[in-house]
Amino acid sequence: MRLSLRFVLPLTLVLAGIAYAVAPLVDRLTLSWFVHDIDTRSSLVANTVQVPLQELLAANRKTKILEFFNRITRDERLFAIGYCASPTDTGLTTHSLPPEIGCGNLQRWEGPNSHLLLSAKGPLHVTVWPIGSDDASPGRLVLVHDMSFVTRRSEETKLYLFYLFMGLAAVVSLVTVVIAQLSWRGWVAGMRSLLRGEGLLRQPAPDAHSDLPGFQPIARDLQRLIRELETDAHARDESQVTWSPESLRAILRGELRGEDVIVVSNREPWIHERRGDRIEAHRPASGLVTALEPIMRACSGTWIAHGSGSADREVVDRHDRVAVPPEKPAYRIRRVWLSAEEEAGYYYGFSNEGLWPLCHIAHVRPTFRSSDWEQYVAVNRKFARAVASEAKTRDPIVLVQDYHFALLPNMIRAELPDATVITFWHIPWPNPESFAICPWRNEVLEGMLGSSILGFHTQSHCNNFVDTVDRFIEARVDREAFTVSFGGKLTAVRRYPISIAWPPDAEILQKSVPECRSEARRLNDFPPEHKLGIGVDRLDYTKGIIERFRAIERLLELKPEWIGRFSFVQIAAPTRAGIEEYQHHEAQVRAMAQRINGRYARRGPPPIVLKIEQHEAREVYAYFRAADVCFVSSLHDGMNLVAKEFVAARDDDQGVLMLSQFTGAARELPEALIVNPYDADQCAAALHLALTMPATEQRDRMRLMRGLVAEFNVFRWAGRMLLDAAAMRRRGRLIGKNGSVEI
Ligand code: G6P
Repeated sequence: MRLSLRFVLPLTLVLAGIAYAVAPLVDRLTLSWFVHDIDTRSSLVANTVQVPLQELLAANRKTKILEFFNRITRDERLFAIGYCASPTDTGLTTHSLPPEIGCGNLQRWEGPNSHLLLSAKGPLHVTVWPIGSDDASPGRLVLVHDMSFVTRRSEETKLYLFYLFMGLAAVVSLVTVVIAQLSWRGWVAGMRSLLRGEGLLRQPAPDAHSDLPGFQPIARDLQRLIRELETDAHARDESQVTWSPESLRAILRGELRGEDVIVVSNREPWIHERRGDRIEAHRPASGLVTALEPIMRACSGTWIAHGSGSADREVVDRHDRVAVPPEKPAYRIRRVWLSAEEEAGYYYGFSNEGLWPLCHIAHVRPTFRSSDWEQYVAVNRKFARAVASEAKTRDPIVLVQDYHFALLPNMIRAELPDATVITFWHIPWPNPESFAICPWRNEVLEGMLGSSILGFHTQSHCNNFVDTVDRFIEARVDREAFTVSFGGKLTAVRRYPISIAWPPDAEILQKSVPECRSEARRLNDFPPEHKLGIGVDRLDYTKGIIERFRAIERLLELKPEWIGRFSFVQIAAPTRAGIEEYQHHEAQVRAMAQRINGRYARRGPPPIVLKIEQHEAREVYAYFRAADVCFVSSLHDGMNLVAKEFVAARDDDQGVLMLSQFTGAARELPEALIVNPYDADQCAAALHLALTMPATEQRDRMRLMRGLVAEFNVFRWAGRMLLDAAAMRRRGRLIGKNGSVEI
């Protein structure tokens, strides 16, 4: 209605203006028509009266002539008539002849042109006609017509004109408003379905939307516009050069004010363990916890995770919740309890014997058992119920972490259709051929496509995922926008490279580099100038520890001068020890270290120091600072945060990073010595290069890497995902639907 008024009012005014401007033109036109008309009429009257008048003049019957004249002037238009025999004559005229016209001034009115006279009686039309042309000095007939009817007609015409334009305004407005309303409704419906991933993305029914093709460019333009608005948000992201817990909190306050945020991960951010009669809470040294804790603190969110600590049950309330961090509670953990059977099937089985080797190209065969799959489905459902019960609103933001929860996004959608689900897959995504091995590949893909945003570390993982979807399920893939439309929902597939906290905790960098160097050498019985290499990993077959040892052995073969002058400390945190493949791997690693040490340790310190145990972050960082080279040789790794931690530890700008080309980190840190871990000769050569690299070159490389890690830290990783989620929700609200709309 408002739209109609806004349109009709100006249109009416414009048309009224046109009418006003046109009126004088119409006046002039009608006047000339009337004058022409009266000219003709005068000529006719003059011709008609000529003969009878001449007869009466010849008979000199003046009274008859006046009667004749009076009769003629009964015609309402003929105002006066007169006859002058000569200019000096008083003339025979009707009384109505205006005084301005006399026999003496008739020459004024003679001639072919019409003559208008504005007399006291109103506008008059005067014509003078010769009578008796054979006479030497003929008389003159004066005909005076009343022109006041022209003014009357002109007024009437103006009125008609006004009504005409008003009518026109009404008709044009009506037609326009009806068309606008119809188009707007269609447009809005089109937009909604487009942004929901339906409608335009779906095949139109043969008889419906015949105007759809014409519609698509407009919709695309709008999508582009929305994307431009998005780049605005990204520009804000890029301009925020220093990302910190504070800037992350500021984003949450500004962009996600008061939103309900829930994190779901298998590992919990705080584990309560019983030590004798005491309960200790400790935070696992995990990149994920570092990244997500500031978010949780800022929004007092809820973190749902498997309660795996020995004292976890003792500290929770009756809803299985515990407030953390223990010293200053800011958010809560909701613990989900798993039976031994559930843990065996869901965690050890499907997640770590199935999906883990499936997604990593490390030449360990995945094992898929239907009993594991059943537990995986059941545990995902259990977590979905926990999400639904912890949600304070009907549209929370749920951050789902990793391959343990491939089915969870869709299950959350079923419980909370308006939720914004951001899933981050922390491990690589294989190519479609490799993924096809999974007997439940379609279920896994469909589960993940319940996400509003699906994040991977690298673009090639995003590409592999989209290729896999394209190959195996009936979904619409938009490779330009990088979205997948499935079951009427749109999932945006995005790259969010994870990182570490920057600056690193001051406490772990307290000891100076020289102190760390001498302490590490002293503790391991190495001479003060002994060259030191470091490797820190979970004891996992994907980390390439065997290949690393092979490279060290090859170095000593090719460059024997390093025997007794170089040792490599390998810190390997035990992991997933319940899985046979991991037990086998540990045995292999131990045996290999032993064999190499047996071969070379006789001439001084052992080339390999293997420490299979958990280490505190402080100890790990001390080793990073003490080392000359850090060797990351993963056979396949989503990102690898050890590489970034080594860089963060080296505030002296020294130390060389050797990095496997098969890690996500290799895309971000090209200043490292990038190696193929399967190529022992190449790795040995790189080790030699690292151990002999001049300090200036080490500094140049390290500074560049530190700059990158500082700028692209973990707060940026979390911030970018949340900014995208916030933008998605804003747009969702705009089109009246939350959740899965494109970003
Ligand atoms: C990888 C996975 C994480 C996992 C971590 C430790 O980095 O991406 O989700 O938490 O390994 O493994 P664990 O099985 O001990 O939790």
